[in-house]
Amino acid sequence: MRREWWKNAVIYQVYPRSYGDSDGDGIGDLQGIRQRLDHLQWLGVDAVWLSPFYPSPMKDFGYDISDYRNVHPLFGSLQDFDDLIADLHARDMRLLIDYVPNHSSDQHPWFLESRSGRDHPRREWYVWRDPKPDGSLPNNWLSVFGGPAWTLDEHTGQFYLHSFLPEQPDLNWRHPEVKAAMFDVVRFWLSRGVDGLRIDTAHYILKDPDLRDNPPATGGVAFHRPMGEYDRQLHLYDKGHPDAHAVYRELRGVLDAFDPVRQAVSIGEIHVFDWHEWATYYGEALDELHMPFNFGLLTVPWDALAIRQVVNAVEAALPSGAWPNQVLGNHDESRVASRAGPLQTRVAMLLLLTLRGTPTLYQGDELGLEDVPIPAGREQDPWGLQVPGMSRDPVRAPIPWQDVPNGGFCPPNVESWLPLPADLAHLSVEAQRRNEGSMLHFTRRLLALRRLTPALREGTYRPLDTPEGTFAYLREFEGESVLTALNFTGQQRQLALGNLPTGTVLLSTHGEREAVDLTKFTLRPDEGCVLVLRGG
Ligand code: GLC
Repeated sequence: MRREWWKNAVIYQVYPRSYGDSDGDGIGDLQGIRQRLDHLQWLGVDAVWLSPFYPSPMKDFGYDISDYRNVHPLFGSLQDFDDLIADLHARDMRLLIDYVPNHSSDQHPWFLESRSGRDHPRREWYVWRDPKPDGSLPNNWLSVFGGPAWTLDEHTGQFYLHSFLPEQPDLNWRHPEVKAAMFDVVRFWLSRGVDGLRIDTAHYILKDPDLRDNPPATGGVAFHRPMGEYDRQLHLYDKGHPDAHAVYRELRGVLDAFDPVRQAVSIGEIHVFDWHEWATYYGEALDELHMPFNFGLLTVPWDALAIRQVVNAVEAALPSGAWPNQVLGNHDESRVASRAGPLQTRVAMLLLLTLRGTPTLYQGDELGLEDVPIPAGREQDPWGLQVPGMSRDPVRAPIPWQDVPNGGFCPPNVESWLPLPADLAHLSVEAQRRNEGSMLHFTRRLLALRRLTPALREGTYRPLDTPEGTFAYLREFEGESVLTALNFTGQQRQLALGNLPTGTVLLSTHGEREAVDLTKFTLRPDEGCVLVLRGG
């Protein structure tokens, strides 16, 4: 089989509410994305992952789906979707959609039917339980977004399970009809031409069938950042049940059987930080998810040692033959420019695009955008409204295209759904395209370098011993050696790489450099370089 396209690809995440607003309501839409495809092509990405665009009451901005087979009128129509995919394919780009299997909206007809009566044939499509004899909740499980994971339905006297908002009831994947219906959803979108799935909260779909109480936590946090009450439990029973593996094996079969030539890819959102457990989602015979998202770079402090350790730990945990991937940002996490600091954005991009594995780039990170402060009264994210400090609004601000009011995202006279970044004169796509020294041009050069350099796409990964505050590694392929050297500090750092041949700098975060004598190679503050090694 030829090498799968997604192993060579760079994926770019589009959050449709915030990309381009074609109809002037302050919210992005599919036509608005179509109008911006020149940007993606010029930048040089290979595939778009589109966050949810389906009909939805928008309690969780589209991750609460009330019809899995349509487009929300806010975003356009199925015709617009077909046009978008046709345009992408015409430009030789692929499209991944967001597939949300764990929960639907409470307004989905399936749930309305399920809650209509205990004897309804769809009752068991969701997870219903009686109250305990004293009337209390069925168990101690908590919602990720705060509060209990159970809500009482007064009408039928039972509780239903929701790992997220009460408006996002969990589907019961132990029910064969649910599985069949949700696999049909996959076929529906495959038949419209999609090239893959990003699977939302993929490890939540199956829980302990006995619904045992989670034990108390022994310290630490449940994810990578404090989440309040949720951190007080060890989440042993409310997600990550091993039965999910059989589901993903079957899903893989659905993808492969539909069109083996297309090589549709499945990428699971798996927030598991025991890397060996995380790696099980590839499947023992590499027959489950093509890739569980690797959130290593997103979740460790921006520090050379921490990053080196997590990269090495993930590499070590990968099953033989499994293809890695790297993520630096998404619509849920603080932007890399805010986490790492603006001086480190190029180092971060260089890391993302020179490590081994398929990179995923979040919209706006190519511009070096930071989190946008949200003024009081304009907060949107239900998580932030429920649990202080958890808001994801700052990373979802619309993309600034031009230096005009509302940044060309939407008409100047309407209020965009979230505020834009302030410094449009420097940050906008238009301004950065005019400036060859901009973050945008740097990202584009890096993407081109990756495309033209087989060692960066396919080469092995070998970390090198370098001083504190730095991280360097070799990528080697068919006799070609490419060195990446990164300085995570604000001070100059000398690397002693005397055992390597001399190198020619292909790209530096700081502009041009001459050929480098690796016996006395000095990285400037916050500098990262990619070099091709010559001779021996
Ligand atoms: C995932 C999504 C997030 C959403 C949640 C519930 O983590 O990335 O945006 O709120 O799932 O669907």
